[in-house]
Amino acid sequence: MTATSMAKATATGGRPPVIAICDVHKSFGENQVLKGIDLEVQAGEVVCVIGPSGSGKSTLLRCVNLLEQPTSGTVHVEGIEVTDPDVDIDAVRRRIGMVFQQFNLFPHLTVMDNLTIAQRRVLGRKKDEAERIARRNLERVGLADRGDAYPAKLSGGQQQRVAIARSLSMDPDLMLFDEPTSALDPELVGDVLAVMRGLAAEGMTMLVVTHEMSFAREVASRVVFMDGGVVVEDGHPDQVIGNPQHARTRTFLSRVLDPAAASLGEVPGAPAGSAGSAGSMQGEVAPQVGFERGPGLP
Ligand SMILES: Nc1ncnc2c1ncn2[C@@H]1O[C@H](COP(=O)(O)OP(=O)(O)OP(=O)(O)O)[C@@H](O)[C@H]1O
Ligand SMILES: [Mg+2]
Repeated sequence: MTATSMAKATATGGRPPVIAICDVHKSFGENQVLKGIDLEVQAGEVVCVIGPSGSGKSTLLRCVNLLEQPTSGTVHVEGIEVTDPDVDIDAVRRRIGMVFQQFNLFPHLTVMDNLTIAQRRVLGRKKDEAERIARRNLERVGLADRGDAYPAKLSGGQQQRVAIARSLSMDPDLMLFDEPTSALDPELVGDVLAVMRGLAAEGMTMLVVTHEMSFAREVASRVVFMDGGVVVEDGHPDQVIGNPQHARTRTFLSRVLDPAAASLGEVPGAPAGSAGSAGSMQGEVAPQVGFERGPGLP
């Protein structure tokens, strides 16, 4: 654990951060994807990671449960070093729920069986107990009556909510989400975000890669903007989304918040000092200025 995380562990009553990523680098061959990432997530925090395609967001998320092995640096989950070659990674992974863009449900199993299979095989729960827990979690995601359905009979949004309920049925201590709504039709996004909002309100620790800026703005404890394998900004959503300090963040936000203007080479401007609600985020993004590099950037 780093000196900083030790200090924070003391500040949080002796509990280490739920996730502590320290100087993580990851290369695929010659391609350096992560170039020294430091990031901590405390219990109950919702940290949203935003950034352009290819900036390394998914790779970073996958380093947390060692779906990718960092080239160097350390990752701790609840005080356990997952990058230690001797770690019992299966035991650590049982504490981590992960929800991907693709729902990865078993198509030949009913919703109920999708929710109970890992509970029974991995956690050794009896059928009755697994089904009781599954029903409770289907209720949590608003699908109490769909246990007998097969995934193909459900909408994408419903399938994603089943995937979330499946993760929750394993009683995770933290949840990783990698663009959970980006494969969905726009009208189905809201229900999935509502479920995630509910989880956040219940105090679930969440690390979420997302392009949903209103969600990040409203729900995140912190927003992390990544670009080119580094963390460019990390702070309160009002700061990072509402008043970004770096031109790279401003450029990204202007593209995300107004893709049409960005593709025309026009970047939305805002009167100096303008502020508003999440609904007027676009106006809050400062006008694009000359490219500048912040401290700590290559
Ligand atoms: N398993 C892999 N093997 C080789 N290269 C990879 C692998 N996974 C990711 N990369 C490369 O790493 C870089 C970062 O990819 P990553 O998926 O982490 O980006 P991202 O920020 O999640 O992008 P997106 O927003 O498009 O999902 C890309 O150049 C990608 O091609
Ligand atoms: Mg990705």
